[in-house]
Amino acid sequence: MKNSEPVIHPGWLRAMHWINALAVVVMIMSGLQIYNATVFLGFAIPKSITLGGWLGGALLWHFAAMWVLGANGIVYLCMNLFTRRLAHKFFPLSPKAFFADALAALKGRLAHADPTQYNAVQRAAYLFVMLDIALLILSGLVLWKSVQFPLVRELLGGYEGARLVHFFAMAALSAFIVVHLVMVLLVPRTLVYMVRGR
Ligand code: HEM
Repeated sequence: MKNSEPVIHPGWLRAMHWINALAVVVMIMSGLQIYNATVFLGFAIPKSITLGGWLGGALLWHFAAMWVLGANGIVYLCMNLFTRRLAHKFFPLSPKAFFADALAALKGRLAHADPTQYNAVQRAAYLFVMLDIALLILSGLVLWKSVQFPLVRELLGGYEGARLVHFFAMAALSAFIVVHLVMVLLVPRTLVYMVRGR
């Protein structure tokens, strides 16, 4: 029997969203364990939210998940560009629309009538996280192979600069995830759409 409900998220997007979520969680948890080997910001991360057990184990997780994150991210970007989904779903976006929707959300008056459209706050948040993950990958490349990527290294303020950028971009991604999960809890049917597509 044919399903007449409109498709909100195509299959490729849902698969990529969940692969990305898994890769991001592995990257963050193993990254925190790697951070604990140097503690360059002066505080240690609780072991319970780290992955890998020790520096060597964490590096193995980090290097395995980075291929998944990178490959998935490139295909996601290509699919969004070639299908014109990027232009349709995330634009237009203006500061005026962003502040109007943010204000409406704070007052509890942001309508979710049309699930095929993202509001301006969602558009901004999703574009932000795409750029943030791109920055994480670029700064990660510098930390991994700093000699092979001299231009990116210098743009990010050298090896130590790239290290700080990598950490704070991770912190921003973690903050996004917390807000993202709260939003999903507030409007749980969006989770059904991201699982079933309809
Ligand atoms: C952990 C890292 C995660 C990242 C970086 C992330 C990122 C994103 C992005 C960029 C989108 C927009 C996708 C698009 O339309 O192209 C999205 C949508 C969505 N995500 Fe995530 N996500 C993450 C984890 C999760 C988790 C764990 C859940 C649920 C438990 C979740 C639930 C959803 C839902 C329901 C939507 C559609 C929301 C809507 O209609 O506004 N995400 N996510």
